[in-house]
Amino acid sequence: PVDISRGWLAALEEQANAALPPHIREYVGTTAGSAERAARDLAEWDAVSFAPRTLLGERSLDLGTTVLGRSVSSPVLIAPMAQQVGAHPAGERATAAAAAAVGTVIGVSTNTAVPFGEIQGTGAEWWFQVYPLADRAATERIVERAAAAGAAAIILTVDTTALLVSAPGIEPTEWPEGPERARLVNLTAAELAGLEGRPTVAATLDDIAWLTRASGGLPVIVKGVLRGDDATRAVDAGASAVIVSTHGGRRSGASISSLSALPSVVGAVGDAAEVYVDSGVRSGGHALVALTLGAQAVFVGRPVMWGLALSGAAGVERVLRGLNAELTLALSQSGATSLAGLSTELTISLGSR
Ligand code: FNR
Repeated sequence: PVDISRGWLAALEEQANAALPPHIREYVGTTAGSAERAARDLAEWDAVSFAPRTLLGERSLDLGTTVLGRSVSSPVLIAPMAQQVGAHPAGERATAAAAAAVGTVIGVSTNTAVPFGEIQGTGAEWWFQVYPLADRAATERIVERAAAAGAAAIILTVDTTALLVSAPGIEPTEWPEGPERARLVNLTAAELAGLEGRPTVAATLDDIAWLTRASGGLPVIVKGVLRGDDATRAVDAGASAVIVSTHGGRRSGASISSLSALPSVVGAVGDAAEVYVDSGVRSGGHALVALTLGAQAVFVGRPVMWGLALSGAAGVERVLRGLNAELTLALSQSGATSLAGLSTELTISLGSR
């Protein structure tokens, strides 16, 4: 029996963890630091509370917003996550199909085993995530190919300085049939590591202009910023947006949380670029907190993997729609009727419980 007393998403996590093979479960759930630290990062989001407004009568509420000038049905976006075929045979095709159905954006990891054309074929708005490879020509090729296939933006992940990534996205093949498909579906963590052939290099400010050029002028979003000064440098160097992120706690066991970094990044960037946040967003209320603090949108990582693992596109859709329903409720209690109204109409009082 699944314990739902902690909420529907925690129950979904429990179900997904029971369904996933141990090595995939570990890959999805892993963090760089202690379990206590990871739990504390998550708990920070829950420690923010607000005084709901009431007696406002029946009002129509709208979660619609824009990211980089494009309309989305909700500010809850899908974070780029590697090797989704480990969680479900359809991998990113299913995640992208859910994004298309819900009307949101999917970040597609460099480390995807699904060809770009199949992701584009779902009709989803997708942003391609890049780790700069030591082989710059190879990075350019993959970025050109993503742009040609229809990616609408490039996400440059800058919090990863010593990771090896695999190459399936670099030389996209048709979705394999027979034993190759089975092999991909049954990848072990060790095999995942074995796939990882190409050394990456630490990103620099120059990479922003370089990726803008290589992509034929797509907006570049810098992911993994936790400081106002770094955010300013990225925006001054041409970034259209930054993502305040601890990579879901997977990169450092001693870093500040995304939530605590958000206000200083928003303050530093001002109106010069959009600011998004991820790492630990687990409810619509968390999303509302992020938006109230000045984020334009949030990305959700692991909950999408849990939905994917349990029932493919339908599972991802369920997660997104669940978060959106919670966000609608939180918005109604904020007193605002639209996200644009949050900064002005909102009487949320953020503070510790
Ligand atoms: C990630 N993340 C990630 N980020 C990135 O830029 N490129 C990548 O390939 C991956 N791969 C990846 C795999 C898995 C299994 C997870 C869980 C995460 C990080 C991801 O984009 C995002 O920052 C976090 O997942 C957000 O935190 P939550 O929502 O998982 O708490």
